[in-house]
Amino acid sequence: MSAEQAKKTIELLRDELRAHNHAYYVLSKPLISDFEFDQKLKQLEQLEHDFPEFADENSPTKRVGSGITTNFKQIKHKYPMLSLSNSYSKEDILDFERRLKKGTDKPLEYVCELKYDGVAISITYKDGQFLRAVTRGDGITGEDISANVKTVKSIPLQLTGNYLPEFEIRGEIFMPKNAFKALNEQRAAQGLETYMNPRNTTSGTLKQKDSSKVATRTLDCFLYGIYGERLPHKNHYQTLKEAQHWGIKTPFIAEKFIEKHNSINGVMDFIEYWAEHRTHLDFEIDGVVIKVNDYSLQEELGFTSKFPRWAIAYKFATENKSTIVESIDYQVGRTGSITPVANLTPIEILGTIVKRASLHNAEQIEKLDIRISDTVFVEKGGEIIPKVTGVDLSKRKEHAQQTVFTTHCPACQTELIKLEGQANHYCPNTEGCKPQILGRINHF
Ligand code: IVH
Repeated sequence: MSAEQAKKTIELLRDELRAHNHAYYVLSKPLISDFEFDQKLKQLEQLEHDFPEFADENSPTKRVGSGITTNFKQIKHKYPMLSLSNSYSKEDILDFERRLKKGTDKPLEYVCELKYDGVAISITYKDGQFLRAVTRGDGITGEDISANVKTVKSIPLQLTGNYLPEFEIRGEIFMPKNAFKALNEQRAAQGLETYMNPRNTTSGTLKQKDSSKVATRTLDCFLYGIYGERLPHKNHYQTLKEAQHWGIKTPFIAEKFIEKHNSINGVMDFIEYWAEHRTHLDFEIDGVVIKVNDYSLQEELGFTSKFPRWAIAYKFATENKSTIVESIDYQVGRTGSITPVANLTPIEILGTIVKRASLHNAEQIEKLDIRISDTVFVEKGGEIIPKVTGVDLSKRKEHAQQTVFTTHCPACQTELIKLEGQANHYCPNTEGCKPQILGRINHF
């Protein structure tokens, strides 16, 4: 193949693969099979290898991570990365409205969004190309984690359409609940310690020095704030909507992730809807964010020393209650890993009855010193699984015996194994243990 032909094919393949990436990771509507995608990617890899003169650091082949970052470079944010003041009740939201009305006579339009519980990121695009991604840091200076962020497939490396020549877009990177669950199952199968929650796992992943390790984790993002000069519209809602047409994953991807309201009642409805439905999402949210839509009005309202006056976060309640551990069961996963589960005296938390809670593994039981008959604190937030956060030692029964972790599989009675330095016990009877077999069939 001549160099000229190669250049053309490379460009064609890159465009095609970018379109497929967008269809798959942003729109969740794949147009071709994974196999066909991989074939095309391999073809591109080969051509890039044979014709290194056409290398491009934003090529779709660069999603797999490349090498070690020794030191993340410190970058000063062009626009400081502020946080939001929090509110917890309807009364707080009405106070927010009162403050806004004191600050301006103009009619107010609110944009309601989800408050994604992930890691904040600021991405700069120049001439449609991904330039860099910086963490929030202290809000003034952050760390350049571009190599890691480039492995997040829903973040485009090259934009399409009529994009702005240069801008920053901010949002949140997170690990979907399903990916978190699968990762923990995989770790448990390898006898490694399981992770506590998706947010910390995302944060730890993004700080990895080896971006090829980051590429093996499933991370996703939502981008929700554009910063730059000569923005295409006079308000947040339309500007963000426009960014969706540049290939960026914004909340406009799904109905109900972003809404515009011109009354505080509409805002309240949004809050109520998501307080009820948040557990159905495949990612964690810890509240909603309410923003004044109009940019000039945002400027007029300005900032306090810490927060913008034109926006507020409404945090969903987590509820802590105490109840009694009646017994402890051991569950066998598809990989043979054993999870201890506490059977609790049923209690109502945030409108649902909680009867069971995962105790994670032997180390967790030991760390919290959870015993049968103990009164424990149980917390439920947006997550589906409630957490045991501690023991009320003042209520410990005199006869309460320290928990001895089961030594044999509850299903097939095979002796459990636990390798040195690993957190989980597991049943080695892969071929003959019923829940493992059923789990594998189910997974398949
Ligand atoms: S707007 C100046 N919108 O929550 C306003 N933040 O404590 C900038 N977050 O630092 C933030 N979802 O990391 C905004 N839809 C959303 C958000 C969101 C999550 C995070 C963000 C921010 C923190 C606020």
